[in-house]
Amino acid sequence: MRIKRLSLTQFRNYKRLQLDFSESLNIIIGENAVGKTNILEAIEVLALTKSHRTNDKNLILENKSLARIKGVVVVDKIVRNLEIELQEDSKKIKINSTAIAKLSDYIASLNVIVFSPDDIEIIKGSPSIRRNLLNVELSQISKQYLVVYNQFNKLLKTRNEYLKILYTNHLADQDYFQILTEKMIEKEILIYTMRKQYIDKINESIAPIFQDIHSDFSLQIHYEPSVVFSSYEEDVMKEELKKVYQKNQQKEQSYGMTLYGPHRDDFSMYLDEKNLKIYGSQGQQKAAILAYKLACIPIFLEKTGTKPVLLLDDVFSELDVKKQNKLLKYIGKDIQSILTTTDVKQIRKSLLEQATIFQVASGTVERK
Ligand SMILES: Nc1ncnc2c1ncn2[C@@H]1O[C@H](COP(=O)(O)OP(=O)(O)OP(=O)(O)O)[C@@H](O)[C@H]1O
Ligand SMILES: [Mg+2]
Repeated sequence: MRIKRLSLTQFRNYKRLQLDFSESLNIIIGENAVGKTNILEAIEVLALTKSHRTNDKNLILENKSLARIKGVVVVDKIVRNLEIELQEDSKKIKINSTAIAKLSDYIASLNVIVFSPDDIEIIKGSPSIRRNLLNVELSQISKQYLVVYNQFNKLLKTRNEYLKILYTNHLADQDYFQILTEKMIEKEILIYTMRKQYIDKINESIAPIFQDIHSDFSLQIHYEPSVVFSSYEEDVMKEELKKVYQKNQQKEQSYGMTLYGPHRDDFSMYLDEKNLKIYGSQGQQKAAILAYKLACIPIFLEKTGTKPVLLLDDVFSELDVKKQNKLLKYIGKDIQSILTTTDVKQIRKSLLEQATIFQVASGTVERK
């Protein structure tokens, strides 16, 4: 998968911008605050329909009411024109000029893996950051996941409302509540299963990648589902979830919310069986996240038949030449990557020679 062209109108600090990317390595160079990250963010929004950094409003050029991002994307020689138009309180999404109503019909039109300085939050931040990461990745590789996840969220909301009703009104319909719970369990089983399988797959390759790019420790991800199952067989999960909800109904009623389910999942990273969040050095934590993202690439390829586009924000600048070379082994060929840096001196010459370079000065970009 490649993004050939990106066109921006009134997005962040760009009044208008058009860039043509190469199929492999693209490097965006510029001083601080000139708009390098904004370009990657625009591609992220085009792919995922939202930015991990902020809400839509801040993406629109100051004092304007609308921003537009267009991209020409090529997958297996098929060319698609993607478009996202953002207004303060609305969003229009199009593929080849046709409006798309459902997110699940759009996601995966452009798949991306984002490497960002904010990634450290994947280790240090709250569980919702890690759940969101899993959701974004799984939604890109499985339409079914996104559809079921949305259904689950709706059921969760209804169930939460009903828990509040049950708490205040003891005559409220229990049967309806049981049906809601059963329907929600059905969705949960798929979400738990797909998350488990995804993390298992990452664990198949993350350790050697970490050893290659960093050091000789064994890196593993531990999935920490909010309900611990004795096995991931459907029937077993169903029974165990039913039991959890039966056992905790009073508690859930008094809290007025569903306390168990995929919306409470988490995962942790372990280096030689030690929790990276607690024991890891900053360098180890960063390398672990890098290894995690690199381990996702072959899964995307396997599940979608094409590699995602890699967006690397300021990643190279932090690595010494040796580590740059290691990383390049994974991202330097047969995949499109777009990376930013402030200091061209920090990037080795041979890398610059094989790359397409974009020089950014505030609000304008020149392809070299
Ligand atoms: N909605 C907006 N309208 C106009 N300008 C904006 C908007 N949002 C952000 N900016 C401007 O964009 C610039 C920051 O862009 P960006 O984050 O892409 O910089 P950068 O080149 O990545 O910098 P750094 O090297 O520090 O990471 C700032 O000057 C900021 O004021
Ligand atoms: Mg930046």
